[in-house]
Amino acid sequence: MKVIEKIGDMQSLIKDEKLKGNVVGFVPTMGYLHEGHQQLMRKAREECDIVVTSIFVNPLQFGPNEDFDRYPRDERRDKRIADEEQNDVLFFPHVREMYPTNQSVKMTVHRRVNVMCGKSREGHFDGVVTVLAKLFNIVMPDRVYMGMKDAQQVAVVDALIEDYNFPIKLIPVETVREVDQLAKSSRNVYLSPTERKEAPYLYQALLHGKSLIEEGESSPQAVIEAVSYFIKTNTHGKIDYVDVLSYPQLEPLDECGGEMILALAVNFEKARLIDNVLVSIH
Ligand code: PAJ
Repeated sequence: MKVIEKIGDMQSLIKDEKLKGNVVGFVPTMGYLHEGHQQLMRKAREECDIVVTSIFVNPLQFGPNEDFDRYPRDERRDKRIADEEQNDVLFFPHVREMYPTNQSVKMTVHRRVNVMCGKSREGHFDGVVTVLAKLFNIVMPDRVYMGMKDAQQVAVVDALIEDYNFPIKLIPVETVREVDQLAKSSRNVYLSPTERKEAPYLYQALLHGKSLIEEGESSPQAVIEAVSYFIKTNTHGKIDYVDVLSYPQLEPLDECGGEMILALAVNFEKARLIDNVLVSIH
């Protein structure tokens, strides 16, 4: 596995691979790799000739009171994992080369962001699309692999690819979970032992909501209330949101129906956890 830090080196390697007719798969990450990231790499490995994973903790997508400075990092371990997963390239750009000056051209997301995490993390998705547009231009992938754990991110990136004509196929990958079904996340390390025991109830709450919809509950509000009650009675976490929306448009629904997402974010003492399930009613 090659470890590349310079943008120019990354671009020239990819140009060579493209000339050879190789299909490039790309897994963008912020590092502190876990099974969720590894699942994306494995899918990419199965389907592509060249697999590139990037590690870049993107300052633009963190708000002033968020955890940019204490976002967990472990470069040595990440390199070992990326190598074991048979990546061809690990791309590790530096902040000073990615953002040498304040940007002259800014990207702003208008749709799919006034709900869920977009509502409570102002500017977050502007930062995500900015870094991904840059990474797409540098890595020039044919296929990009992203996790459904961040379903709103998948919906926004789907719009980015469409609106800006990136010749890239977005491959959503199912959420990887711990044995007790807590969604794997780099931030799980911040949970206290009690919180860690409570955290799996978030997914249980989503499954409860999903079965209510499947059993005929047509009111999104009733589902939201039932899921919120389940969370409040089983955890000490503070609910940021519980929402039922159309997917991938992420628009509010008068009645449950069609392709939907049931999603939540809950704040624990030192970690904000998110999770979601898709529900389909026809
Ligand atoms: P990061 O949080 O490191 O996640 C990188 C990718 O791994 C994302 O596509 C995310 O959805 C996926 N992922 C995380 N946990 C997962 C799980 N339990 N199961 C399946 N996939 C999982 O998301 C980001 O980084 C950044 O916003 C990024 C896209 C790199 C832009 O900076």
